[in-house]
Amino acid sequence: MGWVKFITGLVLVVLLSGTDVGSACAQESRVPVPKPPKGKGEQCVRETSFMRANHMNLLLHQRDETVQKGIRTKKYSLRECIACHAVNGKDGQPVSYEDPKNFCRSCHEYVAVKLDCFECHASKPPSKKAAAANSENGYRASGVLPQ
Ligand code: HEC
Ligand code: HEC
Ligand code: HEC
Repeated sequence: MGWVKFITGLVLVVLLSGTDVGSACAQESRVPVPKPPKGKGEQCVRETSFMRANHMNLLLHQRDETVQKGIRTKKYSLRECIACHAVNGKDGQPVSYEDPKNFCRSCHEYVAVKLDCFECHASKPPSKKAAAANSENGYRASGVLPQ
């Protein structure tokens, strides 16, 4: 990780933490600060401020548990993140990571984070039809190899 990216990441986390301070800054500053779309439900899998700073560690830890140790749990599953953080496009269907409106992209562009995750993982919830077909296929059911 380049230190420039790291510093920008820190600045973003500071800007976004403490909603009042954050929104005041966003209004006064001429630098556009990302406004991630609100997730579904009452709360995230951990506190929002914790998620801002640490979501990548949760995901990477969960991945290692699954891929290296075969442990599969729902709590920090990427598929669950995608389900709660789906954002609809003009057609009323959830948008993929290709679309700048995608929740996961909303901050990453700002901090110049590039992800390869969505080359394999679905970046939007499966359509009803795909979900039905996937339930007969354990590999796809894990959210890998979408649609
Ligand atoms: C080359 C393809 C590939 C790439 C790239 C990839 N993954 Fe995965 N990932 C997999 C496969 C295959 C599994 C195993 C799925 C299973 O066995 O359930 C997996 C499992 C996971 C899991 C555990 C299953 C779950 O959702 O709970 C997480 C979390 C995860 N990956 C996150 C990531 C993240 C974050 C990135 C990007 C930094 C990423 N992956 C990049 C293929 C990939
Ligand atoms: C049950 C639904 C749900 C699940 C599952 C979920 N989230 Fe969230 N997430 C939310 C809600 C609600 C918020 C708070 C949004 C707000 O306060 O505006 C949130 C906030 C966040 C934030 C901070 C956004 C901001 O405004 O700064 C990040 C980052 C995030 N979630 C990532 C994830 C990741 C990564 C996962 C999977 C490991 C995940 N979420 C799973 C509902 C969920
Ligand atoms: C509130 C802003 C925000 C949102 C929303 C967000 N991220 Fe991030 N994400 C960041 C920041 C900032 C970094 C870089 C941290 C660093 O470089 O230390 C990052 C880094 C990551 C990394 C590590 C990349 C690397 O190269 O090390 C992964 C994986 C990741 N995010 C996954 C996701 C996923 C999946 C979602 C959607 C569920 C998401 N993020 C939504 C701000 C966000």
